[in-house]
Amino acid sequence: MTDLDQLKTDALTRIEDAPDAAALEALRIEFLGKQGSISGLMKTLGKMSPEDRQVQGPLLNGLRTAAADAIAARKEVLEDAELEARLATEGLDLTLPAPAMPSGSVHPVSQVMDELAEIFADLGFSVATGPEIEDDWHNFTALNMAETHPARAMHDTFYFPDHDSDGHRMLLRTHTSPVQIRSMVDVVAKNSGGAPIRIIAPGRVYRSDSDATHTPMFHQVEGLVIDRDIHLGHLKWTLETFLKAFFERDDIALRLRPSYFPFTEPSVEVDVGWQDVKGRRVLGGDGDAPGHGWMELLGSGMVNRRVLEFAGLDADEWQGFAFGVGVDRLAMLKYGMDDLRAFFDGDGRWLDHYGFSPFDQPTLSAGVGAKA
Ligand code: DAH
Repeated sequence: MTDLDQLKTDALTRIEDAPDAAALEALRIEFLGKQGSISGLMKTLGKMSPEDRQVQGPLLNGLRTAAADAIAARKEVLEDAELEARLATEGLDLTLPAPAMPSGSVHPVSQVMDELAEIFADLGFSVATGPEIEDDWHNFTALNMAETHPARAMHDTFYFPDHDSDGHRMLLRTHTSPVQIRSMVDVVAKNSGGAPIRIIAPGRVYRSDSDATHTPMFHQVEGLVIDRDIHLGHLKWTLETFLKAFFERDDIALRLRPSYFPFTEPSVEVDVGWQDVKGRRVLGGDGDAPGHGWMELLGSGMVNRRVLEFAGLDADEWQGFAFGVGVDRLAMLKYGMDDLRAFFDGDGRWLDHYGFSPFDQPTLSAGVGAKA
């Protein structure tokens, strides 16, 4: 037996007999560490003649690999044994209560959008969506805001450098109203007769604006009804029914004020009555009574016949009403938050306070804001 064979037999035997992880690590250092015996032998290769190196090189490499493999194998055996020993002694008490799982919460904006969808579904509305990156025609022109229309200036639009096929810059939609156009165009394309339509379109909208009551991104919900013989009475009843269900009280007073939007004619601004309750404005009551007042809530009106025509509908046959309201504003009013910016800060503490359990799914029968 050569010295090398002897060394190998000794090393492998000792590795195999290593009683625990610490002993095994000591052996690894003894043989393969920087100052280790096998590492020392490897270093002698450099000083050998080429002929000797040709013979000794493969032998020494083999020795080093064999030692390393043996250490890895022994390590696995020791680890398995340790696990076995732990499993044999450790008990598992299946009667202990499970640790509480942290659960996420639903953002008030999502909750309010669910509530809106729920209420309007009961009134026969479906939910429509449209792109947030919109073209000029859907966002402005087809809503009766021609290129030079002053109402465009009120929107502080974010534009993209890219142009659409008409040569206009693409933009981030400034309101959900373009979904009105998309829904009408869709219905016209699907059946040449056109309407009827009953949709709400909740979603994100964007304007270059930022303070305590404005964020560059916010949420609106658009409503659109198109049918034969639709009139302002339908609009008022629908809004009244919606607001009573949403705010969960019957004494919601509405005031319709003449206003102007390019896409509706006539246009009305809808105010809701509030009353002072311990220094806070709470919706309800009679806006005209002492200590009561009116706050502006949403814009609406009868769809302008020019808008119907842009969308390809026969304005002598079809009429409709539309409305648009800020979802964040509805959430603030219903759940009593006062700074809009907190909605989008992503602060977990705020969400813990104002968020909703995923199980608080709104239903009209249980009450839309009911806690499950
Ligand atoms: N699009 C309007 C805005 O963002 C809101 C609005 C007003 C929508 C009247 C409507 C409407 O559908 O009829 O300021």
